[in-house]
Amino acid sequence: MNPLEISPDQFQLLADRVTRLAAEYLENLDALPISPRTNGEETLHLFRAPIPEQGLGEEALVVLPEVMKRSRVQNGRFFGYVLGSGEPVGAVADLLASVLNQNVTAWRSGPAAVTIEQTVVGWLAEALACGNFRGHLTGGGSSANLMGLAMARETKAPANEQGMPPNGVVYASDEIHMSIPKSVALLGIGRDNLRLVPTDAVFRMIPEQLEARIRQDKAAGKTPITIVASAGTVNTGAIDPFRQIAEIAHRHGAWFHIDGAYGALAAMADREKFDGLELADSISLDPHKWLYQPLDCGCLLYRSSEAAQMTFAHSGDYARSLNADPVEGFAFFEESLELSRRFRALKLWLSLRYHGLAAFRESINRDLRHARRLAEAIQKAPELELLAPVELSAVCFRHKGKSSMTEEVLNHFNLALLKRVVERGRVYLSNASLRGKFCLRACIVNHRTKDSDVDSVVTEVTAAARDARP
Ligand SMILES: Cc1ncc(COP(=O)(O)O)c(C=O)c1O
Repeated sequence: MNPLEISPDQFQLLADRVTRLAAEYLENLDALPISPRTNGEETLHLFRAPIPEQGLGEEALVVLPEVMKRSRVQNGRFFGYVLGSGEPVGAVADLLASVLNQNVTAWRSGPAAVTIEQTVVGWLAEALACGNFRGHLTGGGSSANLMGLAMARETKAPANEQGMPPNGVVYASDEIHMSIPKSVALLGIGRDNLRLVPTDAVFRMIPEQLEARIRQDKAAGKTPITIVASAGTVNTGAIDPFRQIAEIAHRHGAWFHIDGAYGALAAMADREKFDGLELADSISLDPHKWLYQPLDCGCLLYRSSEAAQMTFAHSGDYARSLNADPVEGFAFFEESLELSRRFRALKLWLSLRYHGLAAFRESINRDLRHARRLAEAIQKAPELELLAPVELSAVCFRHKGKSSMTEEVLNHFNLALLKRVVERGRVYLSNASLRGKFCLRACIVNHRTKDSDVDSVVTEVTAAARDARP
């Protein structure tokens, strides 16, 4: 017997131990400090051990509670970044996905997995009223954006064979997520050729400024490759005016990509906010954010398979499909930069089947309501001020400090305050910088959040302010 083999009984025993730990963890989640009580020295001491030459057997699992104790907790008061809350039905499916170990390259390698992925991607497109889009699941929003922009580049300024022509330009707002400049760099377009279009008072791209920049660039001999709009900017959740931007993209022959990693899935609950979403050529989404799925699970939707194939199809002979049947001959690697791909769709599929779309819609609506509740509480607290309108579920605010504080001191004070809030461990906030102002930022994409969790934000921030020092 191969020394790596374990019996099905032993698998069951290990799985039982792990699922028992996981269930206990879920049971205690609400009471745990969100920021683990640890430091670098301790994590190195615990986990930077030499690789064991001889296996430990079941003893290997003994350290798992230590891992869990030093993990950041996503209970109902976790409001950092844009991070979904890890829906447990999805987690159960992930275990099975790993056991099945399907390589979701092509139908022949995983008939059920490929069909299920196509199905859930179709469900998402339909739920967003973009039913004519197709696509695939990705590692996250960053890789979906990279692939969307690669399709834009290959369609508008083909580079796959001879390299990048020198004149391509990309447009996005000055509130765009960092994955866009990163993609522009990786695709050889060059970050100097990314134009950051100014935003208005509510952080939406100003279409007139976009138009003016494009005209200026065209007069200088440049080619607009793509305009990237945001369906929920990472800082404030602002939604760019898609309809006007689509019209400008169309007029100037540019690809229209929407970065919907944070917000596009909220269109399931409030489609009117996202008017014109369906006009994009490609859209990135993140089910591991606003469909609460365990990491990782992103998605790229696009209107044209031809554009995806033109960009990504370059198969070595060993991988080429030998089947002309449109179902059985299908290969994701012809439309994606990934070859080996995990069975990400299983968790999303099982979770959607288990709870049903209505439950997800209701949960997203709750997040939207919770964000408004928090904004109202902040407006009522005399020592706090809201720093941006609440379009989706991101709430940016700060403590007003003392009237003698300059803007710079106030920024330092709020940074110290944020650190203190995080240290206290009851609520988790992250930060944003809005026009030079340092903000505390709560982003609610959390199916565990209750009204009382939302209410604890103001209580915690005001309590922490009493002992925060700039
Ligand atoms: C607007 C936006 N775009 C892209 C991303 C990147 O997504 P991911 O972290 O899944 O790569 C994020 C992440 O927060 C985001 O908020």
